[in-house]
Amino acid sequence: MKQSISVLALAFAACGGTDRQPTGPEPEREPACTPPADASAPAYSDLYASYFAAGTPGHCATAHCHGAPGANVWSCGDSAADCYAGMVRAGLINVTDPARSLIADPQRSPLLWVNQAGDMPFDSNAPLPAGRDAILAWVAACAPND
Ligand code: HEM
Repeated sequence: MKQSISVLALAFAACGGTDRQPTGPEPEREPACTPPADASAPAYSDLYASYFAAGTPGHCATAHCHGAPGANVWSCGDSAADCYAGMVRAGLINVTDPARSLIADPQRSPLLWVNQAGDMPFDSNAPLPAGRDAILAWVAACAPND
């Protein structure tokens, strides 16, 4: 019995035990998000120009809202690139799993256009189906920084 255990231990050591590195190509990982083929979704820069910039229905980039001076909680900034980066930092856009971005979540989005219980824009509670649909289409297209 003792002899067979040491033979087994020897065989195990000879085969490299449990820390053998898998050989061969990495298994193909499913992409986190595949944009629809029709490419009809608005670009983020369109969303910014129509819904997030100062003077728009969402006007997040307004001073004392999410624009300087006096941005609250997160900063949208005065360009689409700055606002995209600010929304990523705020957790509104999920770059690793874009289709699950918070801004488009009907239960958790802070935006009342998307989630009726949302509280943003802070100074307006008017629904905006066009804004909602544009944001949902962009997120379904994998929320690109375009
Ligand atoms: C589409 C546009 C907007 C988005 C995506 C947005 C998003 C957010 C988020 C994620 C927060 C933090 C969590 C929350 O309180 O829900 C927040 C807080 C806040 N936002 Fe907005 N916001 C927008 C527009 C505005 C506007 C226009 C104003 C000003 C009139 C504003 C003022 C504020 C303030 C004061 C807070 C802090 C609220 C508190 O402390 O309870 N936001 N916003």
